[in-house]
Amino acid sequence: MKILITAGPTRESIDPVRYLTNRSSGKMGYAIAQSAINQNHEVILVSGPVSLEPPNDCKIINIESADQMYKEVQSNSKGCDAVIMVAAVADYTPAVYYKEKIKKADDREIRLVRTKDILGSMRESFGYNGILVGFAAETNELRENAIGKMQQKGCNFIVSNDVSRNDIGFGSDQNEVTIFDENGAQQHIDKSSKNLIADAIIEKIETIYGE
Ligand code: PMT
Repeated sequence: MKILITAGPTRESIDPVRYLTNRSSGKMGYAIAQSAINQNHEVILVSGPVSLEPPNDCKIINIESADQMYKEVQSNSKGCDAVIMVAAVADYTPAVYYKEKIKKADDREIRLVRTKDILGSMRESFGYNGILVGFAAETNELRENAIGKMQQKGCNFIVSNDVSRNDIGFGSDQNEVTIFDENGAQQHIDKSSKNLIADAIIEKIETIYGE
């Protein structure tokens, strides 16, 4: 299969010095990319700024902003069999980019505008045969929120994790997830390495592809 995976945070610039970002390290997305490579799939990894070594044997596309990620995912997903959106994409970006550093004496409010919902835009452009996998980063009502996102964005399945915990999720080598699929099935994976969770996700995609 040819699989596109997104990973890491995005960076939304305010001025040449400052930006908005989040706590994603890229570990979950990179683990999925490695797992797919191990299973001999062709991998395109669209990555936000992280300090990880990219896996060998994959095409890596480095981006900074949500808008850049949107464009790369749209153009590189053509011909892919599956897209897995693991990246923590900013939902908001500054309405104005200041070309000169904002002086601290300036009492300024930064207005934010919505970014494009990349996953939400994929089903239409990707077609109905492509396997679309989302992640849901939640702090409460995991089940309801994750299923809502899966249905709204037209995913085959969604992987939810509790990002209010310090021992899993953002930055950690481990995660604990529940996978909800479009047929109503759910699979909980107890706290384990991101590599092991990545293997389970790739296996589920292979099963769907084989059906
Ligand atoms: O990188 P790590 O440190 O290993 O941490 C892993 C992780 C916590 C980042 C990962 O497991 C995870 O939860 N990724 C999803 C983060 C996220 O943005 O979740 P969300 O619930 O806000 O978004 C839902 C889905 O829509 C995600 O697949 C996201 O990639 C996508 N999205 C979000 C916003 C946006 N503008 N466009 C999108 O496509």
